[in-house]
Amino acid sequence: MKATAVAPSNIAFVKYWGKINDELTLPANSSISMNLAQLHTTTTVDFSDDYAEDLVEIQFFNEPLERVQGSKKQRVVDQLNRLRKLANTHMRARVRSINNFPAESGIASSASAFAALTTAASAALQLKVNTRELSILTRLGGSGSATRSIENGYVEWKKSDKSSKSYAVQLAPHNHWDLTDVILIVSTQSKKTSSLEGHGAAASSPFYQARLAELPARLKIIRKAILDKNITTLGIELEKEAISLHVAAMTSVPAILYWESSTISAIKDLYSLRESGIEAYFTMDAGPNVHVICETKNAHLVSDHFKKKAYVQSLFISRAGEGAKIIPNHLF
Ligand code: PMV
Repeated sequence: MKATAVAPSNIAFVKYWGKINDELTLPANSSISMNLAQLHTTTTVDFSDDYAEDLVEIQFFNEPLERVQGSKKQRVVDQLNRLRKLANTHMRARVRSINNFPAESGIASSASAFAALTTAASAALQLKVNTRELSILTRLGGSGSATRSIENGYVEWKKSDKSSKSYAVQLAPHNHWDLTDVILIVSTQSKKTSSLEGHGAAASSPFYQARLAELPARLKIIRKAILDKNITTLGIELEKEAISLHVAAMTSVPAILYWESSTISAIKDLYSLRESGIEAYFTMDAGPNVHVICETKNAHLVSDHFKKKAYVQSLFISRAGEGAKIIPNHLF
């Protein structure tokens, strides 16, 4: 009873920020993202009656395999318990999770990790689930953004007050539009406020209701920009959205400032690049690092522009990618 899955990380074009139900991870708004083909987690889950307890091991690029304990392990065990209940089994599991990016890189691994874990564990337990059900099960693991990593390409995670109606749907496959995310790592410090706390504090911002009110129109514009492959419309909206999320975070109680001075430097340098005619636009998740979205034909120009900046500690490049999938006959 063993299976291996690979799942991508993703970058949100319209961000998930705030929940209407903590236990079920039901988001206050729908969100849209692009899967990142070059940044992924590969997870093997092996269930057996021979194991006395669950064992969770995680490896990041260039680092040794580490056995995890405490709350990190508990989140994985909680997700295994949900799936065990569905499969009506008490078998314990060995979970081995390999990330192809470094731990201290400022790249969040929870989206790819929970999508890969849920996909592999469901397959190992031979649960008969379709993609929609798999995205719902992934959502219940608590990392909402992981829900979107289940579907292929450009994905929307629908909000609903019913668990069965809040899942990921594909807007377009990954090869519909050749976009690249050039990720500027400007800080590798682990963040002081997790996205979990951020979601909890979101509604306390006086700007939060205004943000929610503008999202239906923004979702519409971004869906259409993806379908029309219109980088200008997508980019302008992408930047408004990133600012809107961070304004809500900065004005919540407690106030959360994810940016570093290098975040602002990167944005200003991106403006100068745009003045030279290159269409590239920023977005940021719950952290200081800057994701520059552009058409792949411009990706090398963007990375060359930023590579030489002193504040850029490292840079990752990823194209749009497929969603989570099982790797048959994977060797443990
Ligand atoms: O999936 P979580 O709980 O780590 O929250 C993700 C929050 C953002 O990255 C800021 C936005 C998003 O939709 O990915």
